[in-house]
Amino acid sequence: MDDFQYRSGQLFAEDVNLDELAAKVGTPMYVYSKKTLLGHFKKLRKAFAELNPIICYSIKSCGNINLLKLLASEGSGMDVVSGGELYRAQLANADMSKVVYAGVGKTDAEIKQGIDAGIGYFNIESEAEFENIASIAQQMGQVAHAALRVNPDIYDPKTHVKTNTGKKETKFGVDIERAKRFFESYGENPHCKPTAIHLHIGSPIYSPEPYVLAITKALILIDELRASGYTIDTLDIGGGFAADYESGKSPDWQDYADAIVPLLKDKGLKIILEPGRTISANAGILVTRVQYLKKGGNKKFVIVDTGMHHLIRPAMYDAFHFLWPTQVDSSQEPTVRKEEMDLPGLQLTDVVGPVCESSDVFAKQRMLPPMQRGDLLAIFSAGAYGMVMASNYNAMVRPPEILVDGDQSLTIRHRETYEQLVADELQTSPV
Ligand code: LLP
Repeated sequence: MDDFQYRSGQLFAEDVNLDELAAKVGTPMYVYSKKTLLGHFKKLRKAFAELNPIICYSIKSCGNINLLKLLASEGSGMDVVSGGELYRAQLANADMSKVVYAGVGKTDAEIKQGIDAGIGYFNIESEAEFENIASIAQQMGQVAHAALRVNPDIYDPKTHVKTNTGKKETKFGVDIERAKRFFESYGENPHCKPTAIHLHIGSPIYSPEPYVLAITKALILIDELRASGYTIDTLDIGGGFAADYESGKSPDWQDYADAIVPLLKDKGLKIILEPGRTISANAGILVTRVQYLKKGGNKKFVIVDTGMHHLIRPAMYDAFHFLWPTQVDSSQEPTVRKEEMDLPGLQLTDVVGPVCESSDVFAKQRMLPPMQRGDLLAIFSAGAYGMVMASNYNAMVRPPEILVDGDQSLTIRHRETYEQLVADELQTSPV
């Protein structure tokens, strides 16, 4: 699962006592474990070793440059969706030939940046985008490489409607039926060479079956394209492998690999994976301090110093994040992380943030240990789509990010200041 574990009632990140860390850094703070981050990357690589895939870590899940550097130095490629993410990959010294660039709205400037950087593939989301990339590559006297993102019309019914991308009616990719026509029009283009197929069916996908269905469809397409004389040498199966938000709920890397590897072995295809959360989610927690306790009707509220502005997943997708005090009686140490915990002395509690929105809620009617003003709470599995989706709503500053390595901790992003928040507004300039 991860390296955030209790020892005699005290939560540690690897060998760092989180209460001691919070006393130095303040709260709220994101804390990452290097061991978990790299451990997950290596376990995924090992599970898929038979395919020797290029693993392109999805920067959108958690993009701190210092974390990207760690992954790049382990040989990870990067999946990017903007010029900003590409810039981060460049600063992290990622191997540009292992960078794939998705996204339905790439601008001309972003396309030029990608061609200049020499990225591996543009994942093509529409015919119009392909024509634009080919024309920009031609003007630049360069050759770009493309993977056609096909939409296999497959989805995981357990995935939230807002994170489902594999259905026909979403804005992503090109209907699989249109793919052959795409190759008839552009298969021989000398400026942008489409030699790969890309899939991404959504995230998280809680079982291997949707991948099997989507890959099977993609392989039939690849056979047909090859029979028509097109060179297709690469299949990118996207991201979306689940993370451990709740103990025992998600398949692990080996479960996905056991279903996927046999389909792709000996197909003469280079395989690309684009995992984000399965590497980063459990590698990070958000630590917050209890500000106040209050009652509302019969409900007991715990008000903390972080909220939807720092971790929007519960408000946006009704996502479950396990949370628990960092110091508990040993009888209340959680040995599993579940929505319904069965331990002595728990009380029905709502945990809410300070933002002026009724959706600013981390836990509704959950059985939790009793808490007091000043206690620390850890919100688990917050490494993915946590800090990257944080905002300054209500003019709140974003929290710092701390990287733990054994008994060492390093600030890898500082807490924002009010001065930073207003800096770009203090100097007006005529247009
Ligand atoms: N590749 C593509 C083309 C993607 O669109 C995504 C995620 C990934 C890879 C990585 O997916 P992952 O392995 O991290 O599941 N904010 C939402 C998730 C949005 C996912 C967007 N695309 C959440 O917090 O659940």
